[in-house]
Amino acid sequence: MSDSELSTSPSSVASILNVSNFFSKKETTRFAGSDDESSKKSDSFVTPIDLREFIRLLPDTIRKAQKADQGSNLADEESLTVFEGERNTSDVASGVQEDHIAALFRRLDVTRSEWERFEFFDPTRNYTRNLISTDGDTYTLILLCWNAGKESPIHDHPCDGCWMRILEGSVRECRYVQDKDEDKLVCIHDELYREGDMAYIKDSMGYHKVGNPTKDVPAVTMHLYSPPFQCCKIWLDPAHASQPSNSRMCYYSNNGRMI
Ligand SMILES: [Fe+2]
Repeated sequence: MSDSELSTSPSSVASILNVSNFFSKKETTRFAGSDDESSKKSDSFVTPIDLREFIRLLPDTIRKAQKADQGSNLADEESLTVFEGERNTSDVASGVQEDHIAALFRRLDVTRSEWERFEFFDPTRNYTRNLISTDGDTYTLILLCWNAGKESPIHDHPCDGCWMRILEGSVRECRYVQDKDEDKLVCIHDELYREGDMAYIKDSMGYHKVGNPTKDVPAVTMHLYSPPFQCCKIWLDPAHASQPSNSRMCYYSNNGRMI
């Protein structure tokens, strides 16, 4: 990949969202790896929220998830019971139905009228990174606009994870793990996601690249990172796993305005 989509222009982390439109449709959503039937069952009982409410609830939800993680780790180490009512991550992986952050993301009933003001496509890039909002502490929420037939480099996620939702079009994810004997990255998972689908990844699951597999249809995805991070590793050649490059997390626009 010649153009460095992950390091384009300086970013401003503070963002204030001002969205006046509320949800008007219900999307069917699922997280990759979750049980579809349990997701459908649960979805029918949750209250949809719009983008503004989603962002408002994010910090507390993330802190709650972090507290549950800490409780779980403590329980693992000292054979104690985790905090009552919290997630036990020893047997519940992030991104599945029981994950607090995934559950909140699943409630988001976002319409095009809400996210289109963050939508910027730079035709010279494989994809365009647009910052929707961040508190600089618990989360960063971005809108990625994918040009047809283009993809990201393979990259890691130096955080607790990345939750992704497809808002328009379709994207293909290839997930890799490192073969240390051969010093290469090997694709272990290849999946196509369509509008409304959700996915999750963290480094313990592997690294991935994401792309728009179509010839002429753009795609738009929303990504939630927690906590925010400034740099990640990218691999331009999967045949050299031990030789990643560093890439800064920069943005083309911030809160609906080009930087
Ligand atoms: Fe990613």
